[in-house]
Amino acid sequence: MPNIVVVGLQWGDEGKGKIIDLLSEKAHAIVRAQGGNNAGHTIVVGGDEYKFHLIPSGILYPSTICMIGGGVVIDPEVLAHEIEVLEKKNISLKGRLGISPYAHMIFSYHRLLDQLSEKNKTDAIGTTGRGIGPCYADKVHRIGIRMADFLHEETFKKKLQQTLQQKNQVLKLLYQHAPLKFDDVFTEAVRYRDKLSSYVGDVEETLEELILKDKTIIFEGAQGALLDTTFGTYPFVTSSCTLSGGICTGVGIGPTKIDQTLGVMKAYSTRVGNGPFPTEFQKDEISKFPDPFVSRELGTTTGRVRRVGWFDAVLLKRSILLNGVDALAVTKLDILDSLNTIKICVAYELNGRRIETPPILEEERLQIKPVYEEMEGWMEDTSSITEYKDLPKQAKDYLEHLQETLLVPIFLISMGPSRDQSIILNSFLD
Ligand code: IMP
Repeated sequence: MPNIVVVGLQWGDEGKGKIIDLLSEKAHAIVRAQGGNNAGHTIVVGGDEYKFHLIPSGILYPSTICMIGGGVVIDPEVLAHEIEVLEKKNISLKGRLGISPYAHMIFSYHRLLDQLSEKNKTDAIGTTGRGIGPCYADKVHRIGIRMADFLHEETFKKKLQQTLQQKNQVLKLLYQHAPLKFDDVFTEAVRYRDKLSSYVGDVEETLEELILKDKTIIFEGAQGALLDTTFGTYPFVTSSCTLSGGICTGVGIGPTKIDQTLGVMKAYSTRVGNGPFPTEFQKDEISKFPDPFVSRELGTTTGRVRRVGWFDAVLLKRSILLNGVDALAVTKLDILDSLNTIKICVAYELNGRRIETPPILEEERLQIKPVYEEMEGWMEDTSSITEYKDLPKQAKDYLEHLQETLLVPIFLISMGPSRDQSIILNSFLD
């Protein structure tokens, strides 16, 4: 099997976790490259539901190695908790979980500053409040604290003291907030150090060894292309590169080591947080769509109800271009089962003009009107269908239309959260 990058093509929450979990069966290693516990995925195996934010999805296969690359930002409490949950389920992690010492750490002041900054903005981003942006900002500002620093008592103390001085200035002057005490931040953080330290190792070298031995590696993207800091719907984006290109810088490999890019997209669109969403449902359309519990459109990380809309082929084509996608996985087809009409946005109208690429200006993104093609729905339960030929004709028409519009083959279709609610269409993996 080739080395595959799996990336989200929309605003995150495309169902990458389930797809990676499925592919993991044939993989030796799964590696996370960016983001932090703003991400979250739910995996259902044998009736048990697992929610992960930092640990790669493949951990549920007994021999798969899972690694967290240097480009990830780690909240020690969250990672320690995930390790504990798996240990309690008797899932052994020894020799199977690797954490890069280059990863930057999220501490309480990052979370606090994230939340204060959102509260004080007139145009809040709608972040997850997990301290992701402030942590990446510190990294680029060169005042971040890495896993290696965190594990080294003296270095951690020194760096935390310096950073806290600066953070307390910001808290006081910008937010009129009481200063944070060194002892409190330090004590809270080191509580999780022992739990993590035994898993920290030379992820970069291990990866190189696996690649030289021709082992199969899956690189797990987090969030989605439209949340990419550079090419997403800026400023309503996350703080890392969510594209296939970001995988190389996030795990420390060259682009020649990646063979294929698999793009994951929902059969419709969702977004959490603020920012433009051209195909977002109108009121009458929302009422016809399954409610958030039925459609499973509650965020894994924050529990927020996701905004929902029609499939946007204009944005998808751009995401495919940005990622160099070789094949597609279409998820949540079953959620469309009850709709009698399904729309696909194929262009936008801007000031009376038809455009087929997304505008860059935020103001224009808010003004554009989607141009839709309408297709007949199938009004049939697809959740237990396991063969493509058994799908209703209208569902096949919809999928084939997506494929023809996007000019990329569909490799997999998912119709529910379980592993067996999937149809694999071609030999992309062989
Ligand atoms: P942050 O990444 O917490 O700074 O949030 C920035 C934006 O990205 C917000 O709109 C979040 O809702 C969104 N976001 C971050 N991570 C995810 C994710 O994993 N899925 C969906 N949206 C996300």
